[in-house]
Amino acid sequence: MTHGRRINPGTPRRRLLARRWFAACLGMLAAWAVPVAAQETGPARQRLLADYGWTFTRGDPQRAQEPSFDDSGWRRLDLPHDWSIEGPYDSAAATGGGGGYLPTGIGWYRRAFEVPDAWAGRSVSVEFDGVFERSDVWVNGHHLGHRPYGYIGFRYDLTPHLVAGRNVIAVRVDNSHQPNSRWYTGSGIYRHVWLTVTDPLHLARWGTFVTTPEVDSARAVVDVRARVVNRDGSERRGSLRSAVVDAAGRELARVQSPFAVAAGSEAELHQELALRRPALWSVASPVLHELRTTLVDPEGNVVDETSTPFGIRRIAFDADLGFVLNGERVKMLGVNLHHGGGPLGAAVPEDVWERRLRLLQRMGANAVRTAHNPPAPEFLDLCDRLGLLVMNEAFDEWTHGKVEHGYHVHFDEWHERDLADFLRRDRNHPSVVIWSLGNEIGEQHAPGGDEVLRELVEIARREDPTRPVTTGNDHIYADDGATTEAFLGLLDIVGYNYVDRWHERRELFAWPDRVDHPDWKFIGTESVVVWGTRGEYAIPDDSARVRPFYTATMIRPEQLWKFVAVNDWFMGDFMWTGVDYLGESRWPRKSSTSGVLDLVGFPDDGYFFYRSRWTDEPMLHLFPHWSWKGREGRFVPVLAYTNVDAVELWLNDRFIGEKRLEFPRQGTSGAWNRYETPPVFPTTADLHLTWDVPYEPGVLRAVGKRGGEVVVTEEVRTAGPAAALRVQADRTAIAAGERAVAHVEVAVVDASGTVVPDAEDLVQLDVEGPARLIAVGNGDPEDHSSYRVPRRRAFHGLLLGFVQSTDETGRVRVTATAKGLAPASVELDVVPGAPADRLPAGGGS
Ligand code: GAL
Repeated sequence: MTHGRRINPGTPRRRLLARRWFAACLGMLAAWAVPVAAQETGPARQRLLADYGWTFTRGDPQRAQEPSFDDSGWRRLDLPHDWSIEGPYDSAAATGGGGGYLPTGIGWYRRAFEVPDAWAGRSVSVEFDGVFERSDVWVNGHHLGHRPYGYIGFRYDLTPHLVAGRNVIAVRVDNSHQPNSRWYTGSGIYRHVWLTVTDPLHLARWGTFVTTPEVDSARAVVDVRARVVNRDGSERRGSLRSAVVDAAGRELARVQSPFAVAAGSEAELHQELALRRPALWSVASPVLHELRTTLVDPEGNVVDETSTPFGIRRIAFDADLGFVLNGERVKMLGVNLHHGGGPLGAAVPEDVWERRLRLLQRMGANAVRTAHNPPAPEFLDLCDRLGLLVMNEAFDEWTHGKVEHGYHVHFDEWHERDLADFLRRDRNHPSVVIWSLGNEIGEQHAPGGDEVLRELVEIARREDPTRPVTTGNDHIYADDGATTEAFLGLLDIVGYNYVDRWHERRELFAWPDRVDHPDWKFIGTESVVVWGTRGEYAIPDDSARVRPFYTATMIRPEQLWKFVAVNDWFMGDFMWTGVDYLGESRWPRKSSTSGVLDLVGFPDDGYFFYRSRWTDEPMLHLFPHWSWKGREGRFVPVLAYTNVDAVELWLNDRFIGEKRLEFPRQGTSGAWNRYETPPVFPTTADLHLTWDVPYEPGVLRAVGKRGGEVVVTEEVRTAGPAAALRVQADRTAIAAGERAVAHVEVAVVDASGTVVPDAEDLVQLDVEGPARLIAVGNGDPEDHSSYRVPRRRAFHGLLLGFVQSTDETGRVRVTATAKGLAPASVELDVVPGAPADRLPAGGGS
């Protein structure tokens, strides 16, 4: 197992000399200009993961920023860390339902590290990918800065404050100002921390901007802007080399140009590279390239080097055609996602996002809106790799507040900095195609609100002239103050939240605006979902209640989809939401159930509605379950979502009936009554099929046909009493040292393997071998038990364990047991991984 390059602290005498030398440097900047070749034997740049070996305490101890502070009583932990998710839930919590009734408050983190001799004369910075919220950071007692916005990444230069030997970083996190969010935020250093060591002459953080201004199948132009920083006491010269490297590691193009940067200043360099027959990044084929940027000194030594993944692609937004990627129209089939990871809180391992995003892609989604804040950097890396389009959103509030301590209290002082940092951080991601500057912003219908927007648009254009901006507007046709035309007129794309919200817009959607503003570009930033809690199908006994909830929740999304699907000028829609999220709830609920995946990623019926509309491979989803003891002889509404034309329903081999749908309905072509494919003769204009079936136990079977051929079948069976557990993992191997996660699904089944839909058995999960159980969840919005204990009730027959690798390799067995049920287990291999280089632990705590 690799722990990254070990830094040899040297002998005591060498350390002493180094310390003296270091002290001299602190007072004399010019002395830092040591020739590169002489001082550097290792890589030109080190980027070290600084997640490991921190101490932590809740509360606000005095002088905890001082290196000499005694933190021996603090808890030891590794980052990313979110203390809110550790609980407990409390109906009186300061966050209220917004934060899911979890604790917040103030916390401190400390990390000691050893500065090795090899860092003498180097530039050292620390980078936080996200701290929620109001962070203050010190090194060796020097205050480095304050960042209030909890979703923004930031870095501090440590160089002037470092000493040879032991150094201490201290971080105070203040999430005590409540409420500060409408959804669950988490508390603490919940994203990664990095230490970067470079020459004083180096490439600026987020200073490289790569775009592809000209792209077609024959040729692409790659445009590079790179900021070079010279922290030295004298001018530095050299050359900037940019190379485009493909996924196989082949260099496709290279360019080199000279530079000279004066002492203590920065310069932006511009280069262009041309590629022949480029492989393009697209949703279907998300090909990535790497831009290798190298600073070379006059003697030919490499001084600094960075790698920027990027994609070669051409995006266009057309008022009639919608979104066009590499010359092809792509309808955005979008989901909104909050940043949290259910039982993992805000500290979400990348593999958890990968599983969720892959599930959403299988549903047919090709786009994500990062509601309503900057996501973790690795989230966007995943979208790049998986081929998801991203509407990347900055804020939920500007100057108008929604919650008492929300971003509006920081906006005046911080918006310029936060927005610019966000754009610079994310503008190289090919997945990012639209910037959203805000969600349901009060300024949309307030006097002067357009002036606030104007400034934000200017910042966006300054930092990235290649992508359009939008906002999610929920008041476009509102009675209580409609969004002003001055505001909407500043947007490149007009974003609609709940386009069907007001009056006749229920039927007309954005059509009246299209007629009035044929030059506008339209998108659905947020829309109603097929709502529901996984597994819940209450059928009211009161006959005055016409239909149960599960038979009605799809009607609005169906209507909307019919509008979105057939109007190219409405370039796509993002439904609310892809996954359930903590918060935005009312006790006893702790989470919102708007997701088509629940808090742990089990799909509910709505998932299959979208799949039926967004994918072509024959699919059929039949619901509800068929275990209705006590309802014998009474009707149960049975529904199906499908993308085939016709479905036969059978109960215990008795034919119930055939239903058919066709959307969009085809018209005749060529001559009257001539169809391109065999006509379907639909039995409904809905996008779901339905039968009322008198209940009897047994097997309900649906047979799906296309053009008269059977292409898919689906069954639901009456479950017997719970007899056993069934366990399966989403992978057979995880990598050591990478904090990789396997998802272990546990189902309560009857003697023949049918999931028992109302099972609530308490299940214990035990992990043997080199892995840890980091959380167990079940998707139940009302379950207030801790995610951190190895046992949990099943919810509608299911629960899920998150099993994470450690630094060791070996074989892992996960066993599920429950009283009265046959146990089950699954095995995993923990194989050698490729962990990031780490900042070694050192210097005591
Ligand atoms: C929207 C809002 C989302 C969420 C949603 C709940 O209006 O933008 O953040 O609150 O409603 O349905």
